[in-house]
Parts: sequence; C-alpha cells; structure tokens
Amino acid sequence: MTADKHGFSLTQLTSEKIERVKRDPKYKQLTDEDIAFFKSFLPEKCVLERDSMSVSEHTKYVCDWYNMFRANTAVILLPETTEQVSKILKYCNDQLIAVVPQSGNTGASGGSIPVFDEIIISTQNMTKIRKFDELRGDLVCDAGCVLQELDEHLSQAGFQVPLDLPARHICRIGGNIATNAGGIRQMRFGNLHGSIMGLEVVLSDGSIIDNLTTMRKDNAGYHLKNLFLGSEGTLGFITGVSLATAQIRPAVNVFLIALQTFEHVVKAYGLARRELPETIAAFEVLDASTVKVVKDQEFQIPKGSPFPLEKETHPFYVVMETAGKDRDIEDLRANRLLKQLFDKEIILDGQVARTPDEIERFWSWRNNVPKAIVQQGPTSIHFDVSLDLPLLYKLVEDTRAWAIADGMIGRDIVAIYGYGHVGDGNMHLTIPAIREDEAVRTKIDDFVYEWVAEHKGSGSAEHGIGMMKAAYLSYSKSSTIIDNMRKIKNVFDPNGIMNPYKLFPTKEEEEHGESVRKRDHVGC
Ligand code: FAD
Ligand code: LAC
Ligand code: ZN
Repeated sequence: MTADKHGFSLTQLTSEKIERVKRDPKYKQLTDEDIAFFKSFLPEKCVLERDSMSVSEHTKYVCDWYNMFRANTAVILLPETTEQVSKILKYCNDQLIAVVPQSGNTGASGGSIPVFDEIIISTQNMTKIRKFDELRGDLVCDAGCVLQELDEHLSQAGFQVPLDLPARHICRIGGNIATNAGGIRQMRFGNLHGSIMGLEVVLSDGSIIDNLTTMRKDNAGYHLKNLFLGSEGTLGFITGVSLATAQIRPAVNVFLIALQTFEHVVKAYGLARRELPETIAAFEVLDASTVKVVKDQEFQIPKGSPFPLEKETHPFYVVMETAGKDRDIEDLRANRLLKQLFDKEIILDGQVARTPDEIERFWSWRNNVPKAIVQQGPTSIHFDVSLDLPLLYKLVEDTRAWAIADGMIGRDIVAIYGYGHVGDGNMHLTIPAIREDEAVRTKIDDFVYEWVAEHKGSGSAEHGIGMMKAAYLSYSKSSTIIDNMRKIKNVFDPNGIMNPYKLFPTKEEEEHGESVRKRDHVGC
C-alpha cells in the first residue's frame, strides 16, 4: 500500500533535497547485531523494522505532519520503561548510533524526523499515569501520554492540563515539553516553565536525571529541568513529567468578533485585558483568508454549518475565551465587554458562545485552520514568529505585497494565510506551495526571517528550530548565546548522538545570521 500526506505525494527524502548538511561519518551505520541487541531486551512489538512495515505505517513515523521532511529510517524503537530507554541510549552512545526522540510527531519544525539514518526512539508505549494528587492537582505521568487523553483523565477530578493546542489528540506531553509548546491558552496558563515541577530525563550515556518532584518551590541548586523545555530532543530523552495542573474554571465564554483593521484588533485586545484581567484565557486572530479556507474545506463543526456571524468576509476575526468560576458573573462581564466593544466602535459584529456545543462550534473555525491550509498544496512554508503586537500583521501584509510584486502567487505559492496567538504576540504565517521547490522555500524564508530580525522579533515563538530553522537561529540569537548553547549540548551529549543536524546553524550560517542581526541591531 502506498502512502500520502493530506492527499499529496510524500515529500522527497530530506537527505536528498537538503544540501546544507552532510551525513557525519562518525555515526555508525546500523547492523544486524545492533538490532539483535535491541531485541534482546525489548518485547517484539517494541522493535519496528521498516522492511516488515506497511508503507503507510512507516510513514506515520518518518514523515512530518506538514510533509516537509522525510526519512527512510530502518528501525523504530518503542520502549515501555525508563530503564529500557536508558539501556538503548547507553548502547547507542557506546556504539555512536545517532537517535531521534519522537512523541506524537506533530512537531512543526522537522525536529522529530531523522535526516539520514538515525534511529527513532518513540514515547508511544510510555503512557502511564504514575500519580495524581486530587487535592493540589499534581500529576506525575509518562512522557508518552497524549495531551487530550491526559486532559480527559484530569477533568474527572476538576483539573486540566495547563496547555492546549489544535494537535491535542495526537501530540504527547513529552513532545510538548521538548518543544516548550505554546498553544491557544498560554494567556491563561503561562509558559510551561511555570507548570513543570520536575522531569525524568535519560541522558545519552544512559544516566537518569530523576527529578520528578511535586514541590512547587525548590531552589536547591540550578533548575536543570528548565534546560529540557524546548531542547527539542538534543539534550536528553524525557521519560517522565511532573506537572502542576490547573483547576477547571467552568464558566467559559467564547467571543467571536469581527474587526475592520489590525489596529482595531490591538484595541480590542487592550480593552479585553483591562476589563477581564483575571479571566481572559485566549485571544486568537484569524484573517479573512483563513476563515474562507476552513469554510471551503467544510472543516467547521458541525461540518458545513454557517459561520456564526452574519458575514465571514470581514478583514479580521478574533476568537477570545474567558473562563471564570461563576456563570452569572462571567455572563455579566461578557455582555458588558461586548457592549463596550460595540459602543467604542472597535468591532463590526460579535457573538458570545456559552454552551459546550456553541463553544465547540466557535473554536472549530480556529482549531481547524492548520488542517484546512495543508490541504491547499503538497507542502507548506510556515512561520511562528514573535513580534511587538502592533507589528504582527504588518509582517503578513508586507510578505503578501512582496510576493505579489514578485509574481509568486499563483506561480509558486497558493496564498498567504495569517492567523495566530496574537494575545501572546505570536503570528503564524502559512504559505502552501504549488509544488515542492527548495529555492522558493529559501527565498521566502530569507525574506521573512530578515523582516523579523529587522523588527527585533524572534523567528520561533513556539514551534522551535528543529531542522527547518537551524540556518536562521542566528537571526534571533547572538553567537555568544549560540556558543553557550553548544557548550551545554556538549555537557549533556558529548558524542552528539541526540538528534544531530538539528537546531544549530553551520558556522557559515551563523556568521551570516550574525551579520544580519548586527545590521538590524536585534537584541538592542
Ligand atoms: P514530536 O513532534 O514527536 O517532537 C517534537 C520535538 O520534540 C522533536 O524535536 C523531538 O525530537 C522532540 N521530542 C519528542 N519527544 C521527546 C522526548 N520524550 N524527549 C526529548 N525530546 C523529545 N505547537 C504549539 O506550540 N502551539 C500550537 O498551537 C500548535 N498547534 C499545532 C496544530 C497542529 C494541527 C499541528 C500539526 C501542530 C501544532 N503545533 C503547535 C506543533 C506541535 O504540535 C507541537 O510542537 C507539539 O508540542 C509537538 O508534540 P509531539 O508530541 O507531536 O512531539
Ligand atoms: C497553530 C499551530 C500551527 O497554532 O501552531 O495552529
Ligand atoms: Zn500555534
């Protein structure tokens, strides 16, 4: 059986299409003896070999969600315990076998896909809830727990995971931590650094950092756990997680409002934050093109149902959520805010969803945007930048103007979509390509990352660097910072077996990025 991605042919192998890195000959090529070693202590179902898998089953592990990266990995290991992970890594380190940690494989920067012949170690079989304290909501679980399943489990006791994102039904908590995922409710829950109390991490030499504390306060020495947040599988393999979960606030209101300009979006944001400082949970922006793509694909819930507002063709929409304890108070506040937004002529239209069905209906127009966009082309060029709030949409407008002037739209790319977590200063710019073309991708990447550097932003707000942005890391971070990152990498993984070729630029790329940064005075 052949496989595809969102109905398109699978992307070319990364090793064949990306020229910026070459396979490092220091890594050993896997042998039958190595496979026999893994089989000597892992149950049969935990060692998957390409040659005995269907193409579609293999594809689930070796091709990313955006169809940008693909590997021909021969072996995928699915350990069930921390001790098994430790044994695998110790062996790989001794033998110089390169590995790629993987969880849900929804990562948006190509970090979870091998580049050459690295083996994949997945958390898929590590899904136990180890401990849950119903008084404080402290959770200790395996790294392979699926985000949505954790959330469903916690909800029975009135708690929720302090993280939510549209890939919730596939991504796993270990991957979320390794990417320091942001998502749609970061405004309420804050960055994961605040919620992760401790981690269990296996290092490349097989040693186990055993720090699954549930203490909220623990200043005994360096906060090593923070180093693994956003480390993208390059420092160690996360096997266990200790998480301070959040109390569910049952009185949820979801606003869907229409606005004429991005300046009005910024005004609405300012007013909402001032009026509802404790309860605002999400502030997501959609431009008209993203609403249209969800409608065209009929990805809204219920499928094919009308847009909740009178018109779906206004330039901007905001999905804003508030969550509090008391229904009457929240409804009063919601009505007051909506009236203020109308009275001050900030919005053109607006509705508030209060029941679970209505809430799901409103959110579906936001949650299904990425899925709708990837149906537009065989691959997409996508960005997750952080910028000063008023600049967020200027990036989309400038990129569109540049692409139109160049004649790219309709020739190389389908369209330019802008949406994202504006409440956190994070915009997604997603550009489906008409065909796979590395030159077009690089041309657009250069334009966007230079623009972001010039406007003193970050090239990655939440998806991380992975393979996709390694050449551009130094547009956002100085050589001094990158040098220190390399030193940290060497301490934890001196042989460099953990997720090689990712995150770090080559020396030439670093020097180029440094010159762009200096030219644009990033960091001043
Ligand atoms: P994977 O994709 O498997 O891995 C991601 C990275 O983490 C890789 O570098 C991998 O090597 C490393 N890794 C995985 N597991 C481990 C481990 N146990 N130990 C060490 N390293 C590990 N991201 C956001 O931040 N916000 C969003 O709103 C958001 N929305 C999304 C919506 C859709 C539809 C999709 C497809 C993706 C979205 N993403 C979003 C990106 C992605 O879901 C997140 O980055 C997520 O946290 C990745 O989790 P995962 O389990 O799929 O990890
Ligand atoms: C989102 C992903 C793509 O926010 O980060 O939809
Ligand atoms: Zn996002």
